[in-house]
Amino acid sequence: MQDFYRGRRLRRSSTIREMVRETVLHPSDLIQPYFVVEHQDPEFCSPIASMPGQSQLGISALIKRVGIAFRAGLRAVILFGVPGEKDEFATEAYKEEGIIQRAVRELKENFPGLTVITDVCLCEYTSHGHCGIVQDGYVQNDPTLNYLARIALSHARAGADIIAPSDMMDGRVGWLRRSLDHEGFTDIPIMSYTVKYASAFYGPFREAAESSPSFGDRKTYQMDPANSVEALREARADIEEGADVLMVKPALPYLDVVHALAGNFDLPVAAYHVSGEYSLIKAAAAQGWIDENAAAIEALSSIKRAGASMIISYFTENVLEAL
Ligand code: PBG
Repeated sequence: MQDFYRGRRLRRSSTIREMVRETVLHPSDLIQPYFVVEHQDPEFCSPIASMPGQSQLGISALIKRVGIAFRAGLRAVILFGVPGEKDEFATEAYKEEGIIQRAVRELKENFPGLTVITDVCLCEYTSHGHCGIVQDGYVQNDPTLNYLARIALSHARAGADIIAPSDMMDGRVGWLRRSLDHEGFTDIPIMSYTVKYASAFYGPFREAAESSPSFGDRKTYQMDPANSVEALREARADIEEGADVLMVKPALPYLDVVHALAGNFDLPVAAYHVSGEYSLIKAAAAQGWIDENAAAIEALSSIKRAGASMIISYFTENVLEAL
């Protein structure tokens, strides 16, 4: 008899495999993103070509779609707004009757148990598509902070459960924390897009959110994909400023960073499995080259295995049943 490690002993049956399984996805790990669009027809539903299965939704269409997912176990959503009009100062982003503010109120009214997270950024609302205020062709850091605070406060007033700033301006977590606290929202957590890379994987999202920059790119504010030590600096700064959750985005190309944040800090880590990551699997599955659900669950499990306890993914609705 050979004397070697027999790992196969624990893989012989599905019950044994389940008993020794180290990572199990739960519906409460997952967050579904939705694109809510300002439209005269609240039933408006326009499929996003580069993200099969995802649509821009009018408010009633959103409520219907969330209703189905909620009954299947959906626990949390993150909302992105597509306004009717855009300008240099993202005015539509912080109106009391803005698309996100109305969507939050309706969701909280219809599904009190649902956690509603709002993305806080300017890019979907600015005419130039950048995530901040532009002067002299450059995205200005400090002047942007007040606008972000206005957006975050308007979301909090509408009833958002968690605020998620995705702009990557320096100092915004502290600025938002102080603004929220000052208005009495001391209990609203900030889920910071702490480590957000200037990634090629956001392409389909920019079609969905109509937020491609009209000039230049986002490299002066989003991180260089080559860096991971810098991610630790960003995380330390966000923690000092009062972040409650640290997010890494995208997910699969940056699992080393997810793992590093989970190991080095004591805050929950979230990861965003972004539009391009979703579309890759969708496109291959449409060709019959891979099994979509199996690939999705494998991808999401690997993100959890790396150390993320919250995962934002467009696959959430689809995999709820399988979990
Ligand atoms: C807005 C924002 C982006 C994404 C989330 N928030 C786009 C960007 O930075 O260009 C991307 C999400 C995705 O690709 O699914 N700042």
